[in-house]
Amino acid sequence: MENNRFYPHPVAVIGAGPAGIFAARTLADAGLPVALINRDIKPGGLAEYGIYYDKYRMKLGLRNQFQRIIESPGIHYYGNVTVAENGALSLADLKHMGFKAVMVTVGAQGTKWLGLPGENLDGVYHAKDLVYHYNQLPPYSTQHYKIGEKVVLVGAGNVMLDIARYCIRDLKVKQVTTVVRRGPADVKFDKKEMQSVIKNLDQQALDAEISKAAPVMVSVGQDPMAAKAFILSAVLQAEETGADTNFSFRFLATPKAIVGDQKGKVTGLEIEHTTLKMRKGGRTSAVGLGTTEVIEADTVIFCIGDQVSPGLGLPLNQWGEYAKNPDPNFPIDGTSYEAYDEQAGHPVKGVFLAGWAREASSGLVGTARKDGQKGAEAILGCLASLKESLPQESPIELLEAALSSQTPPVVRNQDILRLAEAEAARAEELGIDYFKFKTNEEMYQAMGLLVMCEEGTLQP
Ligand SMILES: Cc1cc2nc3c(=O)[nH]c(=O)nc-3n(C[C@H](O)[C@H](O)[C@H](O)COP(=O)(O)OP(=O)(O)OC[C@H]3O[C@@H](n4cnc5c(N)ncnc54)[C@H](O)[C@@H]3O)c2cc1C
Ligand SMILES: NC(=O)c1ccc[n+]([C@@H]2O[C@H](COP(=O)([O-])OP(=O)(O)OC[C@H]3O[C@@H](n4cnc5c(N)ncnc54)[C@H](OP(=O)(O)O)[C@@H]3O)[C@@H](O)[C@H]2O)c1
Repeated sequence: MENNRFYPHPVAVIGAGPAGIFAARTLADAGLPVALINRDIKPGGLAEYGIYYDKYRMKLGLRNQFQRIIESPGIHYYGNVTVAENGALSLADLKHMGFKAVMVTVGAQGTKWLGLPGENLDGVYHAKDLVYHYNQLPPYSTQHYKIGEKVVLVGAGNVMLDIARYCIRDLKVKQVTTVVRRGPADVKFDKKEMQSVIKNLDQQALDAEISKAAPVMVSVGQDPMAAKAFILSAVLQAEETGADTNFSFRFLATPKAIVGDQKGKVTGLEIEHTTLKMRKGGRTSAVGLGTTEVIEADTVIFCIGDQVSPGLGLPLNQWGEYAKNPDPNFPIDGTSYEAYDEQAGHPVKGVFLAGWAREASSGLVGTARKDGQKGAEAILGCLASLKESLPQESPIELLEAALSSQTPPVVRNQDILRLAEAEAARAEELGIDYFKFKTNEEMYQAMGLLVMCEEGTLQP
């Protein structure tokens, strides 16, 4: 740390979700100038565009906390700037500007398709797209998603329950069937999230599923009644849904293909029945039995987690994750935060990973926050070991210069504040709890960065 006091090297943080924002705060608190570069106009990542839209108190609390951090001295926010290998700004550009350390906190923006037949049929979606749609992230906010009456969800995590909630409470569809590759004891959702949809749970169907799964569960040491009790534990706090959707589970079923009609429209999900095998470490896994069945559906939504995007140009490992240095130079609590090039056999110099970019779809906002802070500590360790003095030209000034001609203009700290005020004012005007602009154009106008000219075009 001694050198670091003399050489406060600026750091570029890519992605202003919880991980990036808290990484930026840790770095700024240590006296380093930070460039916080974000794809979206607004900071917050999935706290803004993932957490269910009607949890406004929680979202507002997080938004205020993020805003305070972004306003800290030393943090320079650049919104509506995407870093991509072949984009206007790349990791290589940041290195050339003189950033000795780059923190990648871009989350998991890639879609985890399973490569099943029929994935491109009309009516097949991935949860992330719908989540971005109902949380009004442009351009998803204005895209049309055709959700029918018989919806099949795949997966048993909290995202599945968010999508079930949207289909039941907002869209009031006729039927939601959740397909789970393992058993009733292996669901990953929380009781709290189940409260929002349990009113619609078909308890008879659940009993039948538990009875069917019981022999297999007992064979791997699971207690069917305890699993049932957990799933139903939300009943006492059940919320009204205002819908008569039938909501049910199909356990021990893994997707094999999506079936469609001649018009290319989904008509069902073909599943393979599974059994459970106990693996080392006490985790079960699903093993296909070879028998199949088609569940009728007009919409299939995969809620199976996300993966990182290759667009940044960072090397991936065999599981499609950003590869991490297996023998880290700056481990924090035994964890590697360093990007790694497996083919070359060495770390990607100066590039660090945290949050969902380091481990996709893992944990809540608090986990991402801690991970960002720890990743930042790894960077502080790295910079403290550097013997190089500061470059003659400030990397932050070079970045400012590179971004100065961007159209529409880069969004800065004070613009975000104006946007929040404009949205709050509009909510008050409309007498609603919260309001969000649906397009980047509307946000730019609300921030006063673009104005509508007489001929109907937006100009700076
Ligand atoms: C549907 C859903 C609901 C959730 N609900 C809750 C909840 O109720 N409570 C809770 O605690 N947690 C919840 N979570 C989990 C929580 O949102 C995550 O743990 C957390 O947001 C992950 O933080 P992150 O910073 O790693 O990534 P993200 O939040 O994904 O942030 C990534 C940021 O990087 C930016 N970015 C992406 N690519 C680029 C690029 N190429 N260049 C520049 N910037 C880029 C994005 O714009 C974004 O701002 C939910 C998650 C999901 C998916
Ligand atoms: N309200 C909230 O607090 C909230 C809301 C949303 C998300 N989150 C958090 O965000 C994180 C991500 O949530 P998530 O629901 O996306 O992930 P998750 O909790 O990991 O659940 C993913 C589900 O998809 C299944 N799955 C994965 N790959 C599959 C495949 N190839 N075939 C069939 N099924 C497959 C998993 O089954 P297996 O278990 O068999 O792998 C699991 O049931 C979690 O930490 C979650 O708690 C929180």
